[in-house]
Amino acid sequence: MKQSVKLVAGNWKMNGLGASLGEAEALVKALQEQAAACRVALCPPATLTERMARVLADGPVELGGQDCHAEASGAFTGSVSAAMLADAGAELVILGHSERRAGFGESDADVAAKVEAALAAGLEPIICIGETLAEREAGQAVEVVSRQVAGSLPSSLSGKAFAVAYEPVWAIGTGLTPTLEQIEEVHAAVRAAMVAKLGEGGRVAPILYGGSVKPSNAAEILAVAEVGGALVGGASLKAEDFLGIIRAA
Ligand code: PGA
Repeated sequence: MKQSVKLVAGNWKMNGLGASLGEAEALVKALQEQAAACRVALCPPATLTERMARVLADGPVELGGQDCHAEASGAFTGSVSAAMLADAGAELVILGHSERRAGFGESDADVAAKVEAALAAGLEPIICIGETLAEREAGQAVEVVSRQVAGSLPSSLSGKAFAVAYEPVWAIGTGLTPTLEQIEEVHAAVRAAMVAKLGEGGRVAPILYGGSVKPSNAAEILAVAEVGGALVGGASLKAEDFLGIIRAA
């Protein structure tokens, strides 16, 4: 397996007013005192991007968004473009999270269009995929994620900086995680689908695991073959928990 630097990204979802900015400051301070051996990113809600950019300025923690519109500008009430995120200080953007796919009806094609927009704005996309519990129980996990990779990754990604995040929907926010064998099986299938889609360009990008990652399970998950980092929801809101995961990486 490649020994590339792992990426640990925190997804604050629709949280972060108040205490979490202080948590971000604590995280930056801790990481300045004890350099992390991995890349660390925080993805706050869009309105906090600029404030977070100031908190994280000159520090080791990268900044990301949680979604963007596929178009560069126009009559899209309520939406934020990739260029707007970049202008506010973001360097990465999470796209196709299962909460967007399920709650906002985003298809693989929608996600692929957003990836193009992110690349055009110079953002590094983190493209999320993952099966539902019903799909897992029907033995379709590998088939589902392979289809999502084929549909959500535009061929323009080849040679660009990006990550894929495998997040089983049933593991998100539930405390449940797949077995290490299941994670290894799906990550291998995701890598194969990336190479099928992008050729050699599909070999380098890290495949993050996401879904109930916490300090107590991070080390064993991050040691699985082809796990190139973690996408962390709940545990990214507390500096101490997030630091525990970063130390494991
Ligand atoms: P969780 O969320 O860590 O709270 O399970 C992960 C995610 O949705 O990215």
